[in-house]
Amino acid sequence: MIIHRFYVGEILRSGCDTIIALTRGKDVELIKNIDERLGNLFKKVVETGDFKGNVGETILLYPVSNVNVKRYVVASIANEDLEGIRIAVANAILKIKDLSEKTLIFIPKDLVPDVADAIEQSVISVELSLYDVGSKFKVKERKEIKIKEVYYSSNDGVNHNPKIDRGLKIARAVNYARDIANAPPSIMNPEGIEEEARKLAKEYGLNIKVYYYEDLERMGLNGIIAVGSGGGVKPRLIILEYHGRNGNEWDLAIVGKTVTFDAGGLDLKRPESMIDMKFDKSGGAAALGIMKGLAELKLPINVIVALPAVENLPGPKAYKPRDVIRMYNCLTVEIGNTDAEGRIILADTLSFIEKNYAPKRIIDLATLTGAIVTALGNYAIGLFSNDDDFARDLVDIGYFVGEKLWKMPLWKEYYEQLKSDVADTNNVGGRPAGAITAAAFLSKFIESTKWAHLDIAGTAWVQQYGPKKPYYPKGATGIGVRLILYYLLMKIIKDSK
Ligand code: BES
Ligand code: MN
Ligand code: ZN
Repeated sequence: MIIHRFYVGEILRSGCDTIIALTRGKDVELIKNIDERLGNLFKKVVETGDFKGNVGETILLYPVSNVNVKRYVVASIANEDLEGIRIAVANAILKIKDLSEKTLIFIPKDLVPDVADAIEQSVISVELSLYDVGSKFKVKERKEIKIKEVYYSSNDGVNHNPKIDRGLKIARAVNYARDIANAPPSIMNPEGIEEEARKLAKEYGLNIKVYYYEDLERMGLNGIIAVGSGGGVKPRLIILEYHGRNGNEWDLAIVGKTVTFDAGGLDLKRPESMIDMKFDKSGGAAALGIMKGLAELKLPINVIVALPAVENLPGPKAYKPRDVIRMYNCLTVEIGNTDAEGRIILADTLSFIEKNYAPKRIIDLATLTGAIVTALGNYAIGLFSNDDDFARDLVDIGYFVGEKLWKMPLWKEYYEQLKSDVADTNNVGGRPAGAITAAAFLSKFIESTKWAHLDIAGTAWVQQYGPKKPYYPKGATGIGVRLILYYLLMKIIKDSK
């Protein structure tokens, strides 16, 4: 674990072997003070034209020998905002993580409108960049990084330790979500997810409810039962309750798609499509990460997280194409394709949560459709909502945290595609607009609550074409955790009391 702290005092006497200075473009003035004392190295590099000042561009320089700093890195944010900070810090830290033991990151006060924000984002970027996907299972090839301590400093005369603290809590929540999403599917199966949820509940004093097969049957959550029937490990619905303020209303419910492995069911996937389907639990993993973050930050709100945890496998008990399921809200669903399983377990969970908790808002996070990857690729979350203000707030925060969302339509025309001859609805709507018809299906299970559906199929893990970012190591991105934590911090906490 890396130690992060704010440093007040003379930078060259901090005892750090490496100094990272952030600048905008190739601005020498911003970091002149440091640059002069280290031998005007950056000034010279800019004069030669070797440094262009692009976002995330870094240069490793070696100061004159009469200072006690071994390395000097300048990293540029170009003209970007906080995403520029995250990218520049990520590239800089990755460059020296195996060289330096103790690094100081200097953020000049005139670089950004708010130094505090920049420091918080720097801490997050360092933690997210240094996450190691092989840390759990590599034995022989395991490699510890050298860097042990990171100091942060500025010249605005303010002590930013509280921000460092907050950034660390948020980053660790993201990395915790990554751990769960990255975990092998036979370990992190529905039972493994339950264990994780119980650990969280114990650590933070949360209420936890787990509904098992017989409970789900008795309560009529037949969608979860149907999908989970093919699994070797039985399905369950896991609910965590976080009480951060007085009163019994729930400010937000988060529903996370937790298909711990999606083989497609009887409509079996091809190997190329199946290989990454351990990541089909990424929505649930993010929801658990958000819970951890909330509890660490002790946010003054009431939030529930609901995880329908299932394996979608073929087998003698698996649900079948053309089955008809009577869902929790009594709608009947004809199964057009067993590989469209996410929407079925989410539908039951959404109506269950709306009916039994009546939260003010519901967000679901789901690796729901390949179609959203076709539509938006790997750089946007597909956003669907029945409330424009809610959607706008989320889009806003998405830019702030670098987890961008793009709003998709839910026009009534699309609902035609879901018609069934034998039931109230089909679970699939054909090839056109596949992400939209999936969202349209979900919307039938929400009555009146403000709801946002986030299709994270393209962004939940690093795939062939992205998302490529220096603070995204291989594997799960943990997308959704920072988005929703900051949504709560910046949009909800103000008016929750
Ligand atoms: N989990 C998949 C969606 C998915 C695909 C996520 C690729 C990430 C990358 C989902 O359960 C699924 O299989 N959806 C089908 C729906 C189809 C049968 C209507 C799909 O997208 O092909
Ligand atoms: Mn599927
Ligand atoms: Zn799936």
